[in-house]
Amino acid sequence: MTAVASPPLHERLQAAAAALSGRRTESLFDAEPHRTEQFQCRVDGLVLDFAKHRLDDAARQTLLELADARGLLEAFSALINGEKVNTSERRAALHTLLRGTRSETQPELFALVEDTLSRMSDLVAAIHSGDATGFNGLPFTDVVNLGIGGSDLGPRLICEALRQADSPLRAHFVANIDPHDLDNTLLGLDPARTLFVICSKSFTTEETLSNTVRARAWLQAAGATDDTLGQHLIAVTTQVERAGEWSVWPERCLPIWDWVGGRYSLWSAIGISIPLALGWPAFSRLLQGARSVDQHTATAAPADNLPMMMALLELWQTHYLKTDTHAVLPYAQRLARLPDFLQQLTMESNGKSATPEGQQVSHHTAPILWGSAGTIGQHSYYQLLHQGTRSFTADIILPLSADEGDHTARRALAAHALAQSRAFMIGRSAEEACRLGAERGFSAAASRQFELTGNHSHSFITMNSVSPESLGGLIVAYEHKTFFLAVLLGINCFDQWGVELGKAIASEMQALLRGDKATVASDPATLATVRAWQDANPTP
Ligand code: F6P
Repeated sequence: MTAVASPPLHERLQAAAAALSGRRTESLFDAEPHRTEQFQCRVDGLVLDFAKHRLDDAARQTLLELADARGLLEAFSALINGEKVNTSERRAALHTLLRGTRSETQPELFALVEDTLSRMSDLVAAIHSGDATGFNGLPFTDVVNLGIGGSDLGPRLICEALRQADSPLRAHFVANIDPHDLDNTLLGLDPARTLFVICSKSFTTEETLSNTVRARAWLQAAGATDDTLGQHLIAVTTQVERAGEWSVWPERCLPIWDWVGGRYSLWSAIGISIPLALGWPAFSRLLQGARSVDQHTATAAPADNLPMMMALLELWQTHYLKTDTHAVLPYAQRLARLPDFLQQLTMESNGKSATPEGQQVSHHTAPILWGSAGTIGQHSYYQLLHQGTRSFTADIILPLSADEGDHTARRALAAHALAQSRAFMIGRSAEEACRLGAERGFSAAASRQFELTGNHSHSFITMNSVSPESLGGLIVAYEHKTFFLAVLLGINCFDQWGVELGKAIASEMQALLRGDKATVASDPATLATVRAWQDANPTP
């Protein structure tokens, strides 16, 4: 069994959590006059305000001691210097290099990155200028990204967040093997003007290959020939030779490398849908925002280090205050895809229960992360947050300005973000519940049903606006938070062995559904559903 902190620090944090368990967060503002300034980290326009966490200054200092004791800054330096931090796969995790954060140790790898960026930029320019066209010579209007997980969620988030009315191409994303996903996306698209980007680091992912087969058939049915099909295809993979077997021209096969994890790959050619859809300057600015937060993370002292503080807060919440779930609540429709992206980043990275040495961890690891854009959730699951029995923590995210949209509506949006934050903290007291109940004719006892405990710890994160730089920076803050949390928890955040079992059983289930039962182990409940599916789907 492992512990997240050595005995003296662990005991101090446990004692602090016990002392704070009955404490109202509002009262901490009175006790700590400098709390608002001290409980803040900033980088560029990104501000993490964690004053509404059930955490006092003494506990904050102990968490910072833990950051030192666990060598978080040294661990980050090992990451960006290309040490083999992904121990189970015996490789580095150099996503930072993709945005130009480099040390002297990787000149050859950085040359690969620069060469690929230059190839991407040439390809994007040819497509935007109309030099590269579809099979009948017309310029492209739409790009469809075929990929799943890390080969989908990041580029999808960025394209949806930054899309403008005058963006060069419309971007679409197809991930699911359910044929409806591709079919529905292609409705209304003109095959002659549609470009596909096949994104798969491994080039073995069933969903992506199945969608590629069907996308190629759609192009061919519309008139693409063996000679012209390649005009519509770009592939991004570590397996560039294999992509060539799928009609992708060699100059359209862009590499990524085993030292880039899938969920950290949007900065690589996996993200080519971003400059295709939004223009090359937007992609450069995204990388710039990302690089700036890399630099901050590498150099800022723990007390000021925004991603490090996010990780320490998560540890405090999950491990010491015992909250189970983490809601990400962006008050910006442009960031509606952020919770989906962070789900993979957080839960695929840190959803582990053993250390690299095989020891079972003695503590919870990643929280369950979920959420959606405010204000939509307010009319759905916030009831549980305010009055249910589950414990949670949250990140409320509010971009401060926007060059677009009605001012009054945006002010209302900001008011809701601020209101929820305050309601999470103060709740509704027994006295107020009594007054509310009395107005409705309830006894004092029955009026307790209107009480809201409040005291729900959460961070309030602001950013200047949803710009390429700020979005790049925000994503990187969460990337490094995830890494720091893994270091604190003693786990490897760069592998995902847990997903392999389902993939292996899925191919056995295919055999069962085809009627080839002989070699496949199963159980009566599964077999009953197999029969029901076969009855509903007679072999064509
Ligand atoms: O199955 C999980 C996973 O390997 C993710 O880690 C990855 O982002 C996704 O599948 C897609 O993988 P690929 O890019 O190799 O198709």
